[in-house]
Amino acid sequence: MSTQRLEEVRSSFLADLESAGADAEAVEKVRIRYAGRRSGLLNELTAHLRELPNEKKRDYGRGLNELKKEIEAKLTEANMAVRDTVVNAEPGQIHVKGHPSTVSVGTAESRIDVTLPGTPLARGAEHPVHLVRRRIEEIFLRMGYDVEDGPEVEDDWHNFEALNIPPDHPARDDQDTFYLADGHLLRTHTSPVQARVMERREPPIRIIVPGRVYRRDSDLRHSPMFHQIEGLLVDEGITVAHLKATLETFLHALFSDEVDVRLRPGYFPFTEPSAEVDISCIFCGQKGCGVCSGSGWIEILGSGMVDPRVFEAVGIDSERYTGFAFGLGLDRVAMLVYGIPDLRQLFAGDQRLTRQFA
Ligand code: PHE
Repeated sequence: MSTQRLEEVRSSFLADLESAGADAEAVEKVRIRYAGRRSGLLNELTAHLRELPNEKKRDYGRGLNELKKEIEAKLTEANMAVRDTVVNAEPGQIHVKGHPSTVSVGTAESRIDVTLPGTPLARGAEHPVHLVRRRIEEIFLRMGYDVEDGPEVEDDWHNFEALNIPPDHPARDDQDTFYLADGHLLRTHTSPVQARVMERREPPIRIIVPGRVYRRDSDLRHSPMFHQIEGLLVDEGITVAHLKATLETFLHALFSDEVDVRLRPGYFPFTEPSAEVDISCIFCGQKGCGVCSGSGWIEILGSGMVDPRVFEAVGIDSERYTGFAFGLGLDRVAMLVYGIPDLRQLFAGDQRLTRQFA
């Protein structure tokens, strides 16, 4: 084998490339046959160099180099021709490698150069409320809770009546509630989902319910739409001790093991007894600061033991079963965790906020 062999390869390459024309797939085959990394003919010719006696090496080496350059240049040329046919083809006439049939890229008037790089799409960021929601869901999923869902357009029964809120109760004041023309309303809390799930399911029940809620209120700390997460556990023999231990475990996992948890007597129509739950201020270590208004405590959720009247309304035997429920505002937690001063910033849709969470 010698320079003569180089000549043979050269002419067969030119012939093959000629017959490939501007067919992308055929050109690619030629490239692989001659210049392919693994088993291209050029590799073979290069390997042969080592076997030649010294006096022949120079001529052969030079010839081989020239051949390599020529093949490279001709392949580039052929690929340009392929590209031109793609760009200039009539719509519907383009054959794209790897596609079973022709594809259309634009009309004859507006041809698209499919070989140009695309416009990069910016990657989004998770919204802080969503981040907090997922963190809380993960904590309760680990404790064996299910995630439930319910309608935002609710009826009076589930939002109020079944939760022991009679028609003359101040919580129904239409200062607070958005009513729809047909008598429905926008749920004012996630608690109606408690009633819906208890109507449908037998205890034991262990659920959390994240969702949007609506109240006619708007200022630095209130928005007409905000987010809550509800929790409900119903089984035999459930006591306040279970409630307290569950909330402590939850709040330690969400904030830190260092925070103190305090239950204060409270009132909700659907729980008895009820408790407001505070955590020790995570900002000042209870020295007193703006966030805790100098008290050293931050109110974080509402809770209590399910009122037997609620069990009766949804058809659960209140002699046999007891349970606890709790609800907290996700937006408020997001503001605390991420130091966001104005609740309305969460819903303004300004990407300068969300980008900080990428
Ligand atoms: N639904 C109550 C609220 O919106 C919170 C709550 C839920 C309280 C469950 C007790 C039990 O304020």
